[in-house]
Amino acid sequence: MLTPIKTLAVCLGLASHSVALLRATENSTHLTLANDRFSVALARSNGHIVDATLDGQDLLGPVSGNTGKGPYLDCSCIPSGFWTPGGTANLQLLNGTDSTGTPWAGIIMSDTYKPTNQTLSQYFFLRGEETGLHAFSRVTYFNATTPYLRSLGELRTLFRPNTDLWTHFSTSRDNHTPAPLAATFSNALTVQDATSYLGNTPSDPYVSQYSDYFTKYSLAESWRTHDVHGQYSDGSHSNDGSTFGAWLVHNTVETYYGGPLHADLVVDGIVYNYMVSGHFGAPMPNITHGFDRTFGPQFYYFNRGGPETSLAELRADAAQYADPEWNAEFYDSIAEYIPNFVPGSRRTTFEGKVNLPKGAKKPIIVLSENKQDFQLNVFDTKSLQYWAEIDKSGGFRIPRIVEGTYRVTIYADEIFGWFIQDNVKISRSSKQNTFTWREESAGTELWRIGIPDKSSGEYLHGYAPDTSKPLQPEQYRIYWGNYDYPAEFPSGVNFHVGQSDIAKDLNYIHWAFFPSQGNHLLDEPYYNNTNNWTITFDLTRRQLQHAKTATFTVQIAGTKTANGNTKWTPSDSQYANLPWTLDVNNGAYESTWVIPYYRSGSCGVRSAVACQNIEHHFDFPVAMLRQGGNQFVLSLPFNASSVETALLPDALYVQYDALRLEVK
Ligand SMILES: *[C@@H]1O[C@H](CO)[C@@H](O)[C@H](O)[C@H]1NC(C)=O
Ligand SMILES: *[C@@H]1O[C@H](CO)[C@@H](O)[C@H](O)[C@H]1NC(C)=O
Ligand SMILES: *[C@@H]1O[C@H](CO)[C@@H](O)[C@H](O)[C@H]1NC(C)=O
Ligand SMILES: *[C@@H]1O[C@H](CO)[C@@H](O)[C@H](O)[C@H]1NC(C)=O
Ligand SMILES: *[C@@H]1O[C@H](CO)[C@@H](O)[C@H](O)[C@H]1NC(C)=O
Ligand SMILES: *[C@@H]1O[C@H](CO)[C@@H](O)[C@H](O)[C@H]1NC(C)=O
Ligand SMILES: *[C@@H]1O[C@H](CO)[C@@H](O)[C@H](O)[C@H]1NC(C)=O
Ligand SMILES: *[C@@H]1O[C@H](CO)[C@@H](O)[C@H](O)[C@H]1NC(C)=O
Repeated sequence: MLTPIKTLAVCLGLASHSVALLRATENSTHLTLANDRFSVALARSNGHIVDATLDGQDLLGPVSGNTGKGPYLDCSCIPSGFWTPGGTANLQLLNGTDSTGTPWAGIIMSDTYKPTNQTLSQYFFLRGEETGLHAFSRVTYFNATTPYLRSLGELRTLFRPNTDLWTHFSTSRDNHTPAPLAATFSNALTVQDATSYLGNTPSDPYVSQYSDYFTKYSLAESWRTHDVHGQYSDGSHSNDGSTFGAWLVHNTVETYYGGPLHADLVVDGIVYNYMVSGHFGAPMPNITHGFDRTFGPQFYYFNRGGPETSLAELRADAAQYADPEWNAEFYDSIAEYIPNFVPGSRRTTFEGKVNLPKGAKKPIIVLSENKQDFQLNVFDTKSLQYWAEIDKSGGFRIPRIVEGTYRVTIYADEIFGWFIQDNVKISRSSKQNTFTWREESAGTELWRIGIPDKSSGEYLHGYAPDTSKPLQPEQYRIYWGNYDYPAEFPSGVNFHVGQSDIAKDLNYIHWAFFPSQGNHLLDEPYYNNTNNWTITFDLTRRQLQHAKTATFTVQIAGTKTANGNTKWTPSDSQYANLPWTLDVNNGAYESTWVIPYYRSGSCGVRSAVACQNIEHHFDFPVAMLRQGGNQFVLSLPFNASSVETALLPDALYVQYDALRLEVK
């Protein structure tokens, strides 16, 4: 039964009769935005939304500390760390009517951290009969005497209820779970920072259906196809048995960072909008004098279904708004109130065609900061990003792009490398765009291992489902210590090309050693045959004849160096930059590639298989190869570790995307 939702969807298009419904009011203690179904109240005392109701149902519960609030804004951006603005804020109530004739109301919260003169502002708008809030967040820093402050470590909004209304988490169409019960955590064992073993409570719905381990990182998502995430109420704790959803919709992605490969936390009892973080090695901008950037819009959406309405149905209702063209007239109408937000008059549609290499699967085109890897697009504070899936005929279309000069990047599954073109000018007068991508080649391919797809998901414990639980989450989502590497690879990784199976014989993480730190199932670090992986392969005389140069390509989907998630300054640790060595046929050729510190980030230990991607080509004389059996050893330094201040593994590691050998 989805009747109430369908009715709502129809109402959204018919705004003309709704003028009387929208109220923006203030009194001595609160600012309130309300229509007939939905209302929020922001308290003057702390600058936060402290009440939210839909059809009379309280969505937040009582305030307790920072729970029972939201959405509200915070950051890791002041010299001492985190700051939650609002307590000394200027608050402003706005209202108007957009170009479609639909009334809207808004609240601007703007607070300055006096010691440094940093200002954080949060904008919320309620439009017509919609049951949600359009959200923008702005960060400024003007301080000429201290031109470099620090990095913008985190910026996020949080819908943080304090009620048992919410029973389930939904991170993507295919990944959802009942929430663990609060009581289960009193019986939990902390196994790693922010990671608990809950297996002592097998009756808990999360434990019985999803995993014995709970970490918010299991519930992260990557941005490429992300539409919406949130929490669901199955009605067991609502006033009248109705089901509810609280969602964050990615209707636009232009002000996030890291392109479609960025992954972040989405829901864990809090419904997040992570605008900036260093999770999984993501890049963070510096806060320097003159920094002024507005993030958004995103849409916090609340919906209600009948007692039988499923999580999937409420989610699908929310997902329809994950479209940058949705509500474009409205956004243009409020643009004057939102510094840095560009209205439609300076936006255009970017469309055209890509001639793709043969065999390209799931091709994608990305626009991002000019002359930067889109994974590191945080240098220009005005930089924006967009992407679109390329269709079967090579066509693509990206609407509402801000006019400007961008880098175009194209990549695809099954294809090594990237297509990159800088200085692509996009304006309202620019014509059809055609790009031709020829796959990089260093001659004849002798073999490849894995699928070039910017992830290590195809290897052991990657994307394969965990069939031990009914909801079968992908194995990489589960805490890494759950997998007994010493038992699975007693004599290390020995992969024979053409015989071994990537899904069984290659681990999703190449460890320098298998750590006991952060691993409750292991007492001592395990070193045996761990840092060196052996690849063997047979070659025929014909494969080698007439060839002079061999090229071995290694594409990496994630690296943890001793620099951790610190992005722009190398630490003085020995392995801030991580040496990765190829040995061909027992010393016939040996070369070391040093993976730079700024590619580092927690990846596999934070339940990920796709983080910063980077690649390297080793060229060497074909004479180093031989007819018959050959051997490559892929080495990380023995016992390479980092110093961890939290309960986290100290082992350094890489995660492979794909490998291949070519000769020419
Ligand atoms: C002010 O508004 C809030 C939220 O609507 C309400 O709870 C409160 O009672 C109001 N206070 C006064 C003094 O009217
Ligand atoms: C804003 O609200 C005021 C007071 O309720 C109302 O008189 C005015 O018409 C509204 N403005 C717009 C543009 O809707
Ligand atoms: C600029 O930042 C420095 C260091 O954080 C601080 O001492 C100074 O007061 C700030 N200046 C202003 C104008 O806030
Ligand atoms: C503090 O920041 C504001 C903008 O938020 C700016 O107008 C002002 O000049 C800054 N003050 C100083 C002393 O730099
Ligand atoms: C941040 O500042 C550091 C130190 O000045 C610099 O090396 C780095 O390139 C800067 N990063 C960005 C994204 O601006
Ligand atoms: C490590 O390998 C050595 C030699 O292969 C073996 O003797 C030893 O038992 C192994 N240690 C462990 C802990 O597996
Ligand atoms: C790892 O391999 C390298 C290169 O073959 C070799 O020099 C080193 O001795 C090996 N280390 C271990 C611990 O086996
Ligand atoms: C590994 O390195 C640590 C210091 O980081 C050291 O304490 C330990 O003894 C080393 N283990 C081996 C087997 O070399």
